Amino acid sequence: MCGIVGYIGKAAAPPVLIQGLRRLEYRGYDSAGMAIVENDALIVARAVGKVANLTDKAKHDWPASRFHQPSYGIAHTRWATHGSPTENNAHPHLDASGNIAIVHNGIIENYRALRGRLEAQGHRFFSDTDTEVLAHLIGSHDKGDLFQAVCDALHQVEGTFGIAVVSLREPGKIIAARRGSPIVLGIADGETIIASDASAILAHTQRVIYLDDNDIAIVTANQVDIRDLHNVPVNREIAQLEIDAAAAEKGGHAHFMIKEIFEQPDCLRNAIRGRLDFHLGSAVLSGMGTSPRDLAEIQRVVLVGCGTSLHSGLIGEYAIEDLADTPAEVQQAAEFRYRNPIIGHRDLVLAISQSGETADTLAAVREAKQKGSFVMGLCNVVGSTIARETGRGIYLHAGPEISVASTKAFTCQVAVLLMIALKLGRARRFSRQEGIEFARGIESIPALVEEVLALDGTIARIAEHYATQQHAFFIGRGPMYPVALEGALKLKEISYIHAEGYHAAELKHGPIALIEPGIPVIALANDIPGKDKTLGNIEECKARGARILGIITRGDEEAAAVMDDIIEIPACHPLIATIPTAVALQLFAYHIARIRGCEIDQPRNLAKSVTVE
Ligand code: AGP
Repeated sequence: MCGIVGYIGKAAAPPVLIQGLRRLEYRGYDSAGMAIVENDALIVARAVGKVANLTDKAKHDWPASRFHQPSYGIAHTRWATHGSPTENNAHPHLDASGNIAIVHNGIIENYRALRGRLEAQGHRFFSDTDTEVLAHLIGSHDKGDLFQAVCDALHQVEGTFGIAVVSLREPGKIIAARRGSPIVLGIADGETIIASDASAILAHTQRVIYLDDNDIAIVTANQVDIRDLHNVPVNREIAQLEIDAAAAEKGGHAHFMIKEIFEQPDCLRNAIRGRLDFHLGSAVLSGMGTSPRDLAEIQRVVLVGCGTSLHSGLIGEYAIEDLADTPAEVQQAAEFRYRNPIIGHRDLVLAISQSGETADTLAAVREAKQKGSFVMGLCNVVGSTIARETGRGIYLHAGPEISVASTKAFTCQVAVLLMIALKLGRARRFSRQEGIEFARGIESIPALVEEVLALDGTIARIAEHYATQQHAFFIGRGPMYPVALEGALKLKEISYIHAEGYHAAELKHGPIALIEPGIPVIALANDIPGKDKTLGNIEECKARGARILGIITRGDEEAAAVMDDIIEIPACHPLIATIPTAVALQLFAYHIARIRGCEIDQPRNLAKSVTVE
């Protein structure tokens, strides 16, 4: 999704803004731009493509002094929603007078109506964007008070926004506001940084303020004044970030994705640490804020999320039903928010989101709260909107996940969901002894993942055999079915191979028509209930010439015998096995994308956090 940066302080703005944009590149984008206020002049640069293009353009077009003399400004990475990725559509956009510049993350849903009204008043637009309309709308309300002009304009806006606005008429301040799209303010000594997320602020400070929906801030170098859109002051806490700039670096790896894959044993230890009670055979998840009595009241668990978070939810569904004898269902967040779900006060709604900013999942949270359900967040980004709006939940402690393809967040989500199932189970029929054994299983996950990471070389060699394919099928049964879906998603996202995940039994009901000689079938045939059936499905694919990569339990010769290639996973509980198996598929996808020379950390058309519908 788009990335916004603003800077006001003692330094020259261009280098600070460019560094901030670089930190937001991982969000995914197609063009970039910045506006600098320097000596009563508003200077704008835009470029299609990478932040590097913008930097080169600014360095080519601007005097070198502009990179050294004090100035302030706003900048943007654009993920196109309205209008193709052209220089004209890149942000910042100006109002009719050319004195006001704006950068925006979000969607102005009623922009056509607003544009029509402004055109009737003689406004002329140079881009296809909704954002230029907002710039003109602000300008049309500007009677010398930029703050009020922004408020007046935002009162007419339907949709979502995170914005930063500067005006030549009111030097020395930046106006920032949000509804739906995240805005964080970095409070440093004699300077203030505005950003879509904390990663662009880390190089300056760890003291931040998160704006809430309909907050608007008047930002100067030494002060931040936050109000609502009716000009009523609001108080927002200064939070201390737990992560530092180094965490957002590649640490010598070729890509953030492979760095994050190899970070998983430590991330999983962080996600598990202090959360297992081997005396009670249960999990300690204080963030849930629930007593065993509360848990016993819960009659159903509804897990909502999107993409990879939806897939971890599917594994959570198996675990909660298996360990806790409690009905559980997974809902795709965008469906949940519009289908008027049947939920009530005895239903626990678990909103799963790495970024904590995904628009559909956030809306699902608000809908569930509206229905009086017990709502909890499962998030990785501390202070994110879903974490703050649910007010209770569990952080993954996986550290910043920069690569668009989610890896460590997925495995930590599953580990936490297994602990939630254990805790729920112990509030029901799951015995203390069963609980202790399962807790031991959870505790062993980091070591199991280390064993799979040791197979990196083997998996890289296997990937060579599959890298030229254009299609692939992933199949699995039981809790391995969602892992098959996740494996297919990882391969799709970063290698652009058309991969599909299926329940192994589904093939015969249609998809098997696509199986022809050489087609890759990645079969999750771990030694779990249903394995024999999966082996049967594999035989059906082999009979039609498919090439089979089997993910099997180490030492399982029966399974190995039917495969063309194998990756062996250490033996463990079926629910636990979902995590090391997923890691094997992450490495498989990574090496195929590497061999195909793909843009692994910022795959085309994708954004790390989807803050629009
Ligand atoms: C996963 O690799 C993708 N980046 C995407 O499917 C992602 O999982 C989805 O957008 C949900 O994001 P969230 O967990 O931040 O809500």
